[in-house]
Amino acid sequence: MPSGNKDLRCSPQTKQLAIDTANFYMEDVGREGISRAELAAQTREIEQAQQRVQDGSRAGLDAEYAALNLAHEMPAQLPQIQEMAADLRRYQDVLVIGIGGSSLGAKALQQAVAPQPPLAGTPRLHFVENIDPFFLQGLLSSLDAGSTAVLCISKSGGTIETVVQYLILRDWLVRQLGGKNAIRHQWVITDPKRGWLRELAERDGLPSLPVPPQVGGRYSVLSAVGLVPLAVLGVDIETLLQGAADNAARCTNADVTANPALEIAALCVLLDTRRNKRTAVMMPYVNRLQLFVDWYCQLWAESLGKWDRSRPGSTPAGTLPVRAMGAVDQHSQLQMYLESRHDKFFTFIELETCEHDLPIPLDGFDVPHFPFLKGRSMAEVIDAEFHATRQVITDAGHPNMTIRLPVLNAHVLGQLIDLYQRTTIYAGLLYGINPLDQPSVEIGKRLAIDYLRGTPR
Ligand code: PA5
Repeated sequence: MPSGNKDLRCSPQTKQLAIDTANFYMEDVGREGISRAELAAQTREIEQAQQRVQDGSRAGLDAEYAALNLAHEMPAQLPQIQEMAADLRRYQDVLVIGIGGSSLGAKALQQAVAPQPPLAGTPRLHFVENIDPFFLQGLLSSLDAGSTAVLCISKSGGTIETVVQYLILRDWLVRQLGGKNAIRHQWVITDPKRGWLRELAERDGLPSLPVPPQVGGRYSVLSAVGLVPLAVLGVDIETLLQGAADNAARCTNADVTANPALEIAALCVLLDTRRNKRTAVMMPYVNRLQLFVDWYCQLWAESLGKWDRSRPGSTPAGTLPVRAMGAVDQHSQLQMYLESRHDKFFTFIELETCEHDLPIPLDGFDVPHFPFLKGRSMAEVIDAEFHATRQVITDAGHPNMTIRLPVLNAHVLGQLIDLYQRTTIYAGLLYGINPLDQPSVEIGKRLAIDYLRGTPR
């Protein structure tokens, strides 16, 4: 039977995620949910998806789903990662150039779990992601080249936004420091053999680390791509990998009641294909998870938004991921969720233990206006808001699930990353599409180059 359980608590010993899928089911949320019979009818497809993942994960970093093996494979590479991080820590500012999967994961984890305030002696990290001359010019004018390092990250080693910004930054370093010195301020993370950036690293002798060829950009946060920037900041990357490994150990079964990633994937796909739920709203009640949701949005959209027209009778796959922040978006998006079309499902994320909670100080004038705040803390208010929003969403008949984080640390983030990478791959297999490629994005990239050549079609 499905494992949905409304009162599931996080285990204080293991600090495991508590995953509550009850409101995805018809018996809890009503007719817009999935019935247990519908899920049971998918058993064969679900078992096949699990078998595919299991078979496709057998060969370590050479496996088809190598991304799911990073938690076990990367510990062996931690000395090289820590060495690069130690070199970068000698600088005051580190510019991390990269886009999409080569940037979002590290950005998300920095926001979620980097030590606050920053550890003494750690540099400021600047993510140079989007092409925006105004931003880059402003950033450069605030930096001293002598104390700045450039870390260029690109799996393919040829992404135009990354290349352009790297070329501008390399030129800036050369003009400020001279050619020889400029080389000592540059590091590279890219494919071990292929691409312009790899060739450049070889030519100039730039220190570099590999992205495993089988690991695609948006699945690369647990490789050097995410681990180096995080290690620079002093994030406990070993614990991050351990968290991912612990979640992987929870997701080995072909039975959805004993594999949360498989259960979530199966329910999300059924909500789309059987209930016309086309939008997947993720709503964390934790500021520090705002960029995590952006990471999830990329993973979900780029992996699942596909249409395999070669299969007779196939239809478009994928649900549009949307970020809604609790409680802020109660004041912007919630009205639409409650009254507009029933074409959405929701994932709430809440935090069980809020460090640094703040009591609400009231004086005699305030109490008659806000008697319900007497003796309350800020965390209690956001908790009440989360419960209220989840209840109105449920009462409106919208399928929803909740992930409860025991705390927000590297171990828990590792679990969340593994959970969503796995869920996304299972969902792709259940849709019958390849969750690892992005063929249409590649078309756009080539066309942009045609525009630059002056030969658009
Ligand atoms: O998931 C993906 O493959 C993309 O989002 C890439 O990460 C993004 O296009 C950047 O590619 P690269 O790392 O090759 O520069």
